[in-house]
Amino acid sequence: MKTTINNLSVFTSGNTNNKSIIFVHGFPFDHRMWDAQIEMLSEDYYCITYDIRGLGESLTGDGQFTMESFVDDLETIIDELKLKLPVLCGLSMGGYISLRATERMEKRFRALILCDTKALADDNAGKIKRAEGIKSINENGVENFVGQFVPNCFSDNFMMKNKPGYEEVLIRSKSSSPIGVKGGLLAMAGRTDTTAFLPNILIPTLVICGEEDKLTPPDVMKSMSDQINNSEFHVIDRAGHMAPLEAADIVNEKMRSFLAEYSEH
Ligand code: MLT
Repeated sequence: MKTTINNLSVFTSGNTNNKSIIFVHGFPFDHRMWDAQIEMLSEDYYCITYDIRGLGESLTGDGQFTMESFVDDLETIIDELKLKLPVLCGLSMGGYISLRATERMEKRFRALILCDTKALADDNAGKIKRAEGIKSINENGVENFVGQFVPNCFSDNFMMKNKPGYEEVLIRSKSSSPIGVKGGLLAMAGRTDTTAFLPNILIPTLVICGEEDKLTPPDVMKSMSDQINNSEFHVIDRAGHMAPLEAADIVNEKMRSFLAEYSEH
């Protein structure tokens, strides 16, 4: 079911009486990157996805986004849907949102799933790259920027073997609002570093990383996971940065067993 909350497109499936999971997608994608997870998990869980402001079907507005405003949006959805202790699951930029949301309001979540993401903020080189991205969108358009950015998010194996699936995601991302994409870049460049908070995380945490993730590689994610007390870490063979989409069956299995262990408490 689709609903609109504060100009954000929110999608729910499954029985509202079940335990809930809220999924936060990566950049510059939309809620559909979680389709395979929703299909499997909505049998037993109330699943919520949404399009981050500026991406997918959510309204872009002025594009003046911050990581804090992205967390505010997540909180509004949780409030409006009256979710009680959802599991929070985020990939990459969705992971930055999830980590900061956990830092701000950990007591509101039952457990955390971090896919292909990191706690580190952008260093100077990273900030300059974001600025170059914005300049390139201004000069050459969002399609061109997305066309260069998105291939880095997938393993070569996936792009070769699942060409139609990959191209569908690429075309969808290319149709993103330029103001929305630039707003996402600014929000990521300005985000805080959540590394110091990692040892304070009390909720059970599942950490998933594609073996061939070029943006948040396994060594970076392992080090993040090691700093979280109650965490388990899995590397997904032959997948890239979009592991839940590239290797849905394996990721679903990891999520299912993690959820079975922790969602009953
Ligand atoms: C994402 O997948 O959300 C982005 O690659 C994150 C980033 O650019 O830091």
